[in-house]
Amino acid sequence: FASGALSGRRVVITAGPTREALDPVRYLSNHSSGKMGFALAEAAAEAGAKVVLISGPCALPTPDRVERIDVISADQMLAASLEATGNCHLFIAAAAVCDYRPAHRSAQKLKKHGDESLKLELVQNPDIVATVAAQKKPTYCVAFAAETERVLDYARAKRARKGVECIIANDVSGTDTGFNSDDNAVTLIDEEGEILLDKRSKTQLARDLIALLATKSDSTEKS
Ligand code: C5P
Repeated sequence: FASGALSGRRVVITAGPTREALDPVRYLSNHSSGKMGFALAEAAAEAGAKVVLISGPCALPTPDRVERIDVISADQMLAASLEATGNCHLFIAAAAVCDYRPAHRSAQKLKKHGDESLKLELVQNPDIVATVAAQKKPTYCVAFAAETERVLDYARAKRARKGVECIIANDVSGTDTGFNSDDNAVTLIDEEGEILLDKRSKTQLARDLIALLATKSDSTEKS
Protein backbone atom coordinates (compact mmCIF):
# COMPACT_ATOMS: atom_id res chain seq x y z
CA PHE A 1 0.00 0.00 0.00
CA ALA A 2 3.02 2.28 0.24
CA SER A 3 2.54 3.33 -3.38
CA GLY A 4 -1.14 4.40 -3.03
CA ALA A 5 -2.37 7.84 -4.01
CA LEU A 6 -2.57 8.83 -0.32
CA SER A 7 0.55 7.04 0.80
CA GLY A 8 1.75 8.40 4.16
CA ARG A 9 -1.01 11.04 4.28
CA ARG A 10 -3.19 11.53 7.35
CA VAL A 11 -6.91 11.53 6.55
CA VAL A 12 -9.68 12.24 9.06
CA ILE A 13 -13.28 11.29 8.27
CA THR A 14 -16.48 11.82 10.26
CA ALA A 15 -19.32 9.34 9.76
CA GLY A 16 -22.69 8.26 11.05
CA PRO A 17 -25.31 10.20 12.98
CA THR A 18 -24.85 12.11 16.21
CA ARG A 19 -27.07 11.53 19.21
CA GLU A 20 -28.22 14.40 21.42
CA ALA A 21 -29.37 13.40 24.88
CA LEU A 22 -32.58 14.67 26.43
CA ASP A 23 -32.17 12.70 29.64
CA PRO A 24 -30.34 9.50 30.66
CA VAL A 25 -32.59 7.30 28.48
CA ARG A 26 -33.75 9.44 25.53
CA TYR A 27 -32.12 11.23 22.62
CA LEU A 28 -32.66 13.02 19.30
CA SER A 29 -30.91 11.56 16.27
CA ASN A 30 -31.39 10.64 12.58
CA HIS A 31 -31.35 7.60 10.28
CA SER A 32 -27.79 7.94 8.95
CA SER A 33 -26.28 4.48 8.46
CA GLY A 34 -22.66 5.67 8.30
CA LYS A 35 -22.11 3.63 5.11
CA MET A 36 -20.67 6.43 2.98
CA GLY A 37 -18.19 7.59 5.63
CA PHE A 38 -17.07 4.04 6.44
CA ALA A 39 -16.64 3.28 2.72
CA LEU A 40 -14.53 6.44 2.35
CA ALA A 41 -12.39 5.40 5.33
CA GLU A 42 -11.84 1.97 3.78
CA ALA A 43 -10.96 3.46 0.39
CA ALA A 44 -8.55 5.99 1.93
CA ALA A 45 -6.79 3.20 3.86
CA GLU A 46 -6.58 1.15 0.64
CA ALA A 47 -4.95 4.20 -0.98
CA GLY A 48 -2.23 4.13 1.68
CA ALA A 49 -3.49 6.83 4.07
CA LYS A 50 -3.32 6.76 7.86
CA VAL A 51 -7.03 7.08 8.54
CA VAL A 52 -8.82 8.29 11.66
CA LEU A 53 -12.56 7.59 11.46
CA ILE A 54 -14.62 9.59 13.93
CA SER A 55 -17.89 7.73 14.16
CA GLY A 56 -21.21 8.53 15.73
CA PRO A 57 -23.26 5.58 17.00
CA CYS A 58 -23.53 3.04 14.17
CA ALA A 59 -23.27 -0.71 13.92
CA LEU A 60 -20.79 -1.02 11.04
CA PRO A 61 -17.51 -2.92 11.46
CA THR A 62 -14.31 -0.85 11.49
CA PRO A 63 -12.45 -1.16 8.15
CA ASP A 64 -8.97 -2.74 8.24
CA ARG A 65 -6.07 -0.46 9.18
CA VAL A 66 -8.43 2.35 10.22
CA GLU A 67 -8.21 3.98 13.65
CA ARG A 68 -11.76 4.48 14.91
CA ILE A 69 -12.81 7.01 17.53
CA ASP A 70 -16.38 6.52 18.75
CA VAL A 71 -18.33 9.60 19.79
CA ILE A 72 -21.97 10.23 20.58
CA SER A 73 -22.86 13.92 20.44
CA ALA A 74 -21.97 16.71 18.00
CA ASP A 75 -19.93 18.40 20.74
CA GLN A 76 -17.85 15.25 21.18
CA MET A 77 -17.47 14.89 17.40
CA LEU A 78 -16.24 18.49 17.17
CA ALA A 79 -13.66 18.00 19.95
CA ALA A 80 -12.40 14.75 18.40
CA SER A 81 -12.26 16.37 14.94
CA LEU A 82 -10.27 19.39 16.12
CA GLU A 83 -7.81 17.14 17.89
CA ALA A 84 -7.42 14.67 15.02
CA THR A 85 -7.05 17.31 12.28
CA GLY A 86 -4.04 18.95 13.95
CA ASN A 87 -1.65 17.69 11.28
CA CYS A 88 -3.92 16.12 8.73
CA HIS A 89 -3.88 16.42 4.95
CA LEU A 90 -7.51 15.72 4.12
CA PHE A 91 -10.66 16.07 6.25
CA ILE A 92 -13.91 14.60 4.95
CA ALA A 93 -17.10 15.38 6.87
CA ALA A 94 -19.52 12.60 5.99
CA ALA A 95 -21.37 12.55 9.31
CA ALA A 96 -25.04 13.48 9.58
CA VAL A 97 -24.61 15.85 12.50
CA CYS A 98 -27.79 16.85 14.34
CA ASP A 99 -28.42 20.53 13.63
CA TYR A 100 -29.89 21.04 17.11
CA ARG A 101 -29.57 19.55 20.57
CA PRO A 102 -31.79 19.90 23.64
CA ALA A 103 -30.97 23.11 25.49
CA HIS A 104 -31.02 21.23 28.79
CA ARG A 105 -30.05 17.66 29.46
CA SER A 106 -32.04 16.42 32.41
CA ALA A 107 -29.94 14.52 34.96
CA GLN A 108 -32.95 12.32 35.74
CA LYS A 109 -35.45 10.62 33.45
CA LEU A 110 -38.08 13.17 32.41
CA LYS A 111 -41.49 12.29 33.85
CA LYS A 112 -44.80 12.50 32.07
CA HIS A 113 -46.89 15.27 33.54
CA GLY A 114 -50.52 16.26 33.27
CA ASP A 115 -50.25 18.46 30.16
CA GLU A 116 -51.11 17.00 26.75
CA SER A 117 -48.17 18.71 25.08
CA LEU A 118 -44.52 19.18 25.91
CA LYS A 119 -42.29 21.94 24.52
CA LEU A 120 -38.65 21.13 23.96
CA GLU A 121 -36.12 23.93 23.72
CA LEU A 122 -33.32 23.22 21.25
CA VAL A 123 -30.05 25.04 20.61
CA GLN A 124 -27.92 24.89 17.49
CA ASN A 125 -24.94 22.56 17.37
CA PRO A 126 -21.56 23.84 16.17
CA ASP A 127 -20.78 23.30 12.49
CA ILE A 128 -17.91 20.82 12.66
CA VAL A 129 -16.58 21.04 9.11
CA ALA A 130 -16.82 24.85 9.06
CA THR A 131 -14.92 25.02 12.36
CA VAL A 132 -12.17 22.71 11.07
CA ALA A 133 -12.01 24.65 7.77
CA ALA A 134 -11.55 27.93 9.67
CA GLN A 135 -8.50 26.59 11.52
CA LYS A 136 -6.04 27.91 8.89
CA LYS A 137 -4.25 24.60 8.74
CA PRO A 138 -3.11 23.10 5.44
CA THR A 139 -6.01 20.69 5.54
CA TYR A 140 -8.12 20.14 2.41
CA CYS A 141 -11.71 20.08 3.72
CA VAL A 142 -14.60 18.26 2.08
CA ALA A 143 -18.26 18.46 3.07
CA PHE A 144 -21.37 16.72 1.78
CA ALA A 145 -24.57 18.49 0.79
CA ALA A 146 -27.60 16.23 0.84
CA GLU A 147 -30.48 18.04 -0.84
CA THR A 148 -33.89 17.19 -2.23
CA GLU A 149 -34.25 20.16 -4.63
CA ARG A 150 -32.01 22.71 -6.40
CA VAL A 151 -29.20 20.33 -5.44
CA LEU A 152 -26.30 22.03 -7.22
CA ASP A 153 -27.36 25.59 -6.30
CA TYR A 154 -27.68 24.77 -2.63
CA ALA A 155 -24.43 22.80 -2.69
CA ARG A 156 -22.47 25.67 -4.27
CA ALA A 157 -23.83 28.05 -1.61
CA LYS A 158 -22.96 25.57 1.12
CA ARG A 159 -19.39 25.28 -0.13
CA ALA A 160 -18.95 29.04 0.22
CA ARG A 161 -20.76 29.27 3.56
CA LYS A 162 -18.73 26.52 5.19
CA GLY A 163 -15.43 27.72 3.72
CA VAL A 164 -14.50 24.25 2.45
CA GLU A 165 -12.40 23.51 -0.61
CA CYS A 166 -14.79 20.91 -1.95
CA ILE A 167 -18.40 19.87 -1.58
CA ILE A 168 -20.00 16.59 -2.62
CA ALA A 169 -23.59 17.25 -3.71
CA ASN A 170 -25.95 14.38 -3.09
CA ASP A 171 -29.54 14.28 -4.39
CA VAL A 172 -31.51 12.48 -1.68
CA SER A 173 -34.98 12.95 -3.21
CA GLY A 174 -35.05 9.38 -4.61
CA THR A 175 -35.04 6.13 -2.67
CA ASP A 176 -32.43 4.17 -4.65
CA THR A 177 -29.46 6.40 -3.71
CA GLY A 178 -28.36 8.41 -0.68
CA PHE A 179 -29.49 7.70 2.86
CA ASN A 180 -29.43 4.08 3.96
CA SER A 181 -28.99 2.88 0.38
CA ASP A 182 -26.04 0.81 -0.88
CA ASP A 183 -25.75 2.99 -3.98
CA ASN A 184 -25.12 6.68 -4.41
CA ALA A 185 -24.68 9.29 -7.16
CA VAL A 186 -22.98 12.63 -6.47
CA THR A 187 -21.48 15.74 -8.04
CA LEU A 188 -18.10 16.92 -6.78
CA ILE A 189 -17.88 20.72 -6.75
CA ASP A 190 -14.69 22.71 -6.23
CA GLU A 191 -13.06 25.83 -7.63
CA GLU A 192 -12.11 23.95 -10.80
CA GLY A 193 -15.67 23.01 -11.65
CA GLU A 194 -18.07 20.12 -11.26
CA ILE A 195 -17.63 16.40 -11.82
CA LEU A 196 -20.67 14.10 -11.99
CA LEU A 197 -20.20 10.61 -10.58
CA ASP A 198 -23.37 8.80 -11.59
CA LYS A 199 -25.04 5.96 -9.72
CA ARG A 200 -22.70 3.23 -8.43
CA SER A 201 -22.15 1.27 -5.23
CA LYS A 202 -21.00 3.29 -2.23
CA THR A 203 -17.82 1.16 -2.19
CA GLN A 204 -16.99 2.05 -5.79
CA LEU A 205 -18.05 5.66 -5.33
CA ALA A 206 -15.79 5.94 -2.27
CA ARG A 207 -12.79 4.66 -4.29
CA ASP A 208 -13.51 7.08 -7.12
CA LEU A 209 -13.97 10.02 -4.74
CA ILE A 210 -10.78 9.19 -2.84
CA ALA A 211 -8.82 9.04 -6.12
CA LEU A 212 -10.14 12.48 -7.12
CA LEU A 213 -9.65 13.99 -3.66
CA ALA A 214 -6.08 12.63 -3.45
CA THR A 215 -5.16 14.55 -6.60
CA LYS A 216 -7.07 17.68 -5.66
CA SER A 217 -5.75 17.87 -2.11
CA ASP A 218 -2.19 17.51 -3.41
CA SER A 219 -2.53 20.31 -5.94
CA THR A 220 -4.41 22.80 -3.78
CA GLU A 221 -2.43 25.06 -1.49
CA LYS A 222 -4.71 26.47 1.16
CA SER A 223 -4.34 30.23 1.45
O1 C5P B 1 -25.37 22.20 6.69
P1 C5P B 1 -25.56 20.76 6.36
O2 C5P B 1 -25.88 19.92 7.56
O3 C5P B 1 -26.46 20.49 5.21
O4 C5P B 1 -24.12 20.33 5.85
C1 C5P B 1 -23.75 19.00 5.65
C2 C5P B 1 -22.25 18.87 5.71
O5 C5P B 1 -21.72 19.59 6.82
C3 C5P B 1 -21.81 17.45 5.93
O6 C5P B 1 -20.52 17.31 5.34
C4 C5P B 1 -21.76 17.34 7.44
O7 C5P B 1 -20.89 16.31 7.88
C5 C5P B 1 -21.25 18.71 7.82
N1 C5P B 1 -21.75 19.20 9.11
C6 C5P B 1 -20.89 19.36 10.17
N2 C5P B 1 -21.37 19.86 11.37
C7 C5P B 1 -22.65 20.19 11.50
C8 C5P B 1 -23.55 20.03 10.42
C9 C5P B 1 -23.06 19.53 9.24
O8 C5P B 1 -19.69 19.05 10.04
N3 C5P B 1 -23.09 20.66 12.67
